[in-house]
Amino acid sequence: MADIRNIVILTGAGVSAESGIDTFRDAGGLWEQHRVEDVATPEAFARDPDLVLNFYDMRREAIQTKQPNAAHDALARLDAGWHGDLLIVTQNVDDLHERAGAHRVLHMHGTHLNAWCTACDTRTPWTGTLIDRPHCPSCDAQALRPDVVWFGEMPYEMDRIYTALRQADLFVSIGTSGAVYPAAGFVQEARDMRVRTLELNLEASMGSRWFHESRHGPATQLVPQWVEEVLNG
Ligand code: NAD
Ligand code: APR
Repeated sequence: MADIRNIVILTGAGVSAESGIDTFRDAGGLWEQHRVEDVATPEAFARDPDLVLNFYDMRREAIQTKQPNAAHDALARLDAGWHGDLLIVTQNVDDLHERAGAHRVLHMHGTHLNAWCTACDTRTPWTGTLIDRPHCPSCDAQALRPDVVWFGEMPYEMDRIYTALRQADLFVSIGTSGAVYPAAGFVQEARDMRVRTLELNLEASMGSRWFHESRHGPATQLVPQWVEEVLNG
């Protein structure tokens, strides 16, 4: 690891699976229980806001009862101990990386724990419900929605992510199926820039063949092992 200084990590639902948060595409995952078109698009929100707000209120409530696991803890240790550049880009809308103590975290698909006012464009930390149409603390409009990126919307901070990828020596993807772009394309972007790539996932993902190395197993085992290698190695 002596030649590694700048690291970009991508995490997906798999890193939070062992905390008890359902993934999207595994058996029994969220997208088997709900149609994406009904709950995760701007069109769905315009058509049936109660259904969408209720879905996210339930997820926001559930997430707050969950705790970080050994994979989140290990990434927080890496964040604290790594002196080079590090960016943890997460597709997850939970706050388990932060609650484990990580600071260098970017939520490319937003977060359940903010409400976004579509009238004044202010984001407010939010732990309660939205179904009851609360007023925006900034402008008083009843125009709050979950601050999550829906299908058909642009993920957040893409310029910052691509800049970090271009400057990285190592790209690590953890617990993501590689089904959703643009995140699914980061591995190819990294390889184009001659960045070393490593996947840590329960099983082979849709993107496994693109990685220089792919290790399979639960995140709570693979991630602490890898972090030890990097910090001691
Ligand atoms: P898309 O699903 O590729 O989304 C377009 C953009 O929105 C992408 O940049 C994506 O990153 C972003 N995005 C928006 N909300 C997102 C979210 N919640 N999670 C992750 N990324 C999000 O584009 P599209 O045209 O809507 O769909 C393309 C194809 O993918 C369609 O055939 C659609 O049916 C299929 N699809 C499948 C699923 C699934 O979970 N199985 C989900 C959505 C779309
Ligand atoms: N340890 C490691 N990996 C795991 C574990 C585990 N304990 N459990 C599941 N996985 C792996 C699965 O094998 C799968 O490849 O995590 C991956 C989860 O994939 P998805 O459910 O597709 O989740 P993700 O890749 O994060 O989805 C991307 O799709 O709809 C959206 O917005 C949503 O951000 C999400 C995006």
